[in-house]
Amino acid sequence: MADLTPLEGKYLTGGWHAADATYDVIGPLSGDAIARAAHCGPDEAKAAADTAWEAFQSWRTTTAFERAELLRTWHDAILANAELLARTMTREMGKPIKEARGEAAYAASFVRWYEGEATRAYGEVFPTAAGHKRGLALRKPVGPVYAVTPWNFPAGMVTRKAAPALAAGCTFILKPAEQTPLTAMLLAELWREVGGPEGTLQVLPTNDPAAVTAPLMEDPRIRKVTFTGSTEVGRMLYAQSAETIKRISFELGGHAPFVIFDDADLDQAVRETIACKFRNAGQTCVCTNRIYVHEAIADAFTAKYVEAAKGLRVGDPNDDATDVGPLVDAAGLAKVQDHVRDAVAHGADVALGGETQGDLYFLPTVLTGVTPDMRMMQEETFGPVAPILTFANEAEAIALANATPYGLASYVYTNDLGRAWRMAENLEYGIVGINDGVPSAAHAPFGGVKQSGIGREGGPWGLDEYLEVTYVSMGLGH
Ligand code: SIN
Repeated sequence: MADLTPLEGKYLTGGWHAADATYDVIGPLSGDAIARAAHCGPDEAKAAADTAWEAFQSWRTTTAFERAELLRTWHDAILANAELLARTMTREMGKPIKEARGEAAYAASFVRWYEGEATRAYGEVFPTAAGHKRGLALRKPVGPVYAVTPWNFPAGMVTRKAAPALAAGCTFILKPAEQTPLTAMLLAELWREVGGPEGTLQVLPTNDPAAVTAPLMEDPRIRKVTFTGSTEVGRMLYAQSAETIKRISFELGGHAPFVIFDDADLDQAVRETIACKFRNAGQTCVCTNRIYVHEAIADAFTAKYVEAAKGLRVGDPNDDATDVGPLVDAAGLAKVQDHVRDAVAHGADVALGGETQGDLYFLPTVLTGVTPDMRMMQEETFGPVAPILTFANEAEAIALANATPYGLASYVYTNDLGRAWRMAENLEYGIVGINDGVPSAAHAPFGGVKQSGIGREGGPWGLDEYLEVTYVSMGLGH
C-alpha cells in the first residue's frame, strides 16, 4: 500500500464508501488538518451491524486453520507496511517515530500470536455421572463484536482486539478514536488486501462517538463490546451493555505505583522508571503516576532520576533522536498543567521541568514533596510528569500503592526474592512488573482489577474473551 489518500473521507462496511460528512483530523505537530476522515453516524452504524451479522454466518464456519492463514498474511502485510503505519501514527498523535516503529511491531505481534492461538481453541471431553452419557464443552465464537479503541496506541490497541476476535471466528466493527482514524483504516485495508472477507473487519471513523455507539449497543446481534479508554466512558458502556447482556472486556484508567526498595539496583531502577514514565510522553494507561522510593535512598534516587530525565530529548516526533514528543491535544496539555500547578500550590517542589515548550510540548518533569491530597495522586496525569514520594517499610508501601480505586499496572524494584513474591501477591493490580518497567507483551495477560477494567487481552486469556462454551451432553442410548 502506497499511501492513505484513496481512503480519505471513507468508511469501511462491505467495501469502502464515501461518507456524506467528514471531519478534519488534526495533527498535534502543526495543529493543522492532516486529512479528512469520514464522520459516521447511526445510519452507518446500523448498516455495519447488518453487515457484521451477515458476514458472521459464513466467517464462523471457516476453519481455524483458514483463519490462522489469513492472520499470518495480515501479520506479514503489517510488517511490510510498518514504516507507513509508524509515520501515520506520528502524524496523527505525535508519538516519537522510534516508538511508533516499535508500536507497528507490537501491533503485528498480536496478529502473530493469535494466528497460532486460533488453532488452539480446544474444546474438552469430560467425565459424567451417568455411564450412558458423554460430556463435551465446545468453544464457539461469541458473535459480532463492537470495539472502541484509543488514540494513544492507534495500531496496537486495534490488533490486540481484532486479532483474537477474528481468530475466534467473530466479526469486528471498529470505532477508532477521533484523533487516530487513519492508522485504523490502514490496518483494515491491509486485512482486505490479504483477502480478509468483506464484513469481517469494518471501520467507522466519527467525530461523534455516541452517535455510532448507541445503535450498536442497542443491537442484540452485537454480542460483545470491547473498549480501551477512560473509566468514565467504560462505566457508560457497562450500563449500556446491560440492556442486551453483552459480553464485555474493558481496559480502563490506571494510576500505576512504582515502588523502589532500598535493596534495589539503583541504576536499573532509574532506567526502568524513566522508560515506564516517559514513553509516549507519559500517555499510556500503564505509565507510572506515583513513584514511591524507600526513604533511605530517596535523595540518591532523585538525583540520578533528575539527571536521567534531563537527558531525554524533547522535539519533533519525526526525528529519530526524539524521546518525548508533543501531547496529543490542548485538552491533554491543560490537564498536565493543571496537575502540576495544583501540586506546586500544595507544596510540591519542581526538581526538573514543570513548563511547556512551544505548542503542546510539556518538558519532562520531576516533582518532590508530593502528598496524597494533590490531584495528581488521585487522577491519571497522562503526561510526562514524575511525582516522587517516600515510604518507610514494606507494609506502608503496599498500603500506599493500593490506596486507589484503580488497579491496572504496578511496579516493584527489589533484589529480595521473598519481598518480590509478597509484593506480587499483595498489590491489587492486574499487572505487577517486578524489576520490569515495561511488561506488556502479546503473549501475556493485560488488564486491570477494581475500576481499571474487566477481562484480559493478550495470550490465551485474550482469545477466551471472544469464545463461548457450549455444553453438549451426548446420550449413547441405554
Ligand atoms: C495502554 O496504554 O492502554 C496500553 C499500553 C501497553 O500496551 O503497554
